[in-house]
Amino acid sequence: MNIKIEKLPEKELKPLFGDPSQLGFGKVFTDYMFTMRYSPGDGWSEPKISKYDSLTIGPAAVVLHYSQEIFEGLKAYAAEDGRILLFRPEENGKRMYDSAERICMAPFPVEYFLESINTLVNLEKRWIPKAPGTSLYIRPTLIGVGDALGIHPASEYLFYIILTPVSAYFKEGFKPIRLYVEDYYIRAVVGGVGNAKTGGNYAASLLAGAKAQEKGFSQVLWLDARERKYVEEVGAMNIFFVFGKKIVTPNLSGSILPGITRKSVIELAKSHGYTVEERMISIDEVIAGIKDGSLTESFGSGTAAVISPVGSLNYKGEDYLVNNNQVGAVTQELYTKLVDIQYGRVKDPFGWIKEIGRI
Ligand SMILES: Cc1ncc(COP(=O)(O)O)c(C=O)c1O
Repeated sequence: MNIKIEKLPEKELKPLFGDPSQLGFGKVFTDYMFTMRYSPGDGWSEPKISKYDSLTIGPAAVVLHYSQEIFEGLKAYAAEDGRILLFRPEENGKRMYDSAERICMAPFPVEYFLESINTLVNLEKRWIPKAPGTSLYIRPTLIGVGDALGIHPASEYLFYIILTPVSAYFKEGFKPIRLYVEDYYIRAVVGGVGNAKTGGNYAASLLAGAKAQEKGFSQVLWLDARERKYVEEVGAMNIFFVFGKKIVTPNLSGSILPGITRKSVIELAKSHGYTVEERMISIDEVIAGIKDGSLTESFGSGTAAVISPVGSLNYKGEDYLVNNNQVGAVTQELYTKLVDIQYGRVKDPFGWIKEIGRI
């Protein structure tokens, strides 16, 4: 790729954020973005880094009518020794490729995905926050932009990457969250697009999420579409249940997102002597485990939220406390081990970390 970089004059650069611990999630955007276009004649062309700015697309663009859109989410971390680190970025590149194929879009090559992120993040490195728990969130996005109504895949595509410095995803920070077990609305169905990272899944989840938040819950815990019986995942996280030294997480049935943090937590937990079962787990089994004390902890996993302890589940109007609403030892151990690897504080025995430059 020969990326054209349109540099801004120094005086047009935005002032940096203030207190990094107050950044929240996805509110501040950096100076530049990466864009690249696809057309049937030229394939992927015009790789460019230019000012973070509005997009111009036609009102008949396929993305606006038929939701041909996919995205990814990963983070750049500043290690204390000045290295800039990414966590398993090739996994995000591969997932984006798979999502594109599922939504019938021109897939973005994984090697372009990695090179464009490396170049953009290095150009924007002043935006990588250094305070504990902060990072630079990277949002690659692919949209169908050809102007033509009629239900069909777009012929032209726009790939872009934007960056946002972030602190904790949940306002609670690393504290137990309250989940609402949704037994009416569903997020996705086997055979649908639940395992693709496409905007439609999130649109489908907004109403239930908003209702849960109105009632004071952090997020929804989704059940399967057919029976409302088996646990699927959380709004922006996969879910784990700890039974002593055994950890259970729903298998990749086709309707949940194959989380990269999920995959990493499974490998990490196994390497620390836990048994991990990827299988169907019913909400009844979860509630029974809470009642008889065999379910000792629960946590969610995702790039944005990292590992998030679950303090309670509300199911059919009843609140069930998990581990007495405290952060459990297993959750704490896996969280610490994972973030230590992500921030380059310990040796990475898995080969997950990619150094892409220095601050
Ligand atoms: C619905 C959903 N499930 C799970 C995840 C976790 O995936 P990952 O660990 O790759 O961030 C996310 C976050 O991207 C998500 O949006």
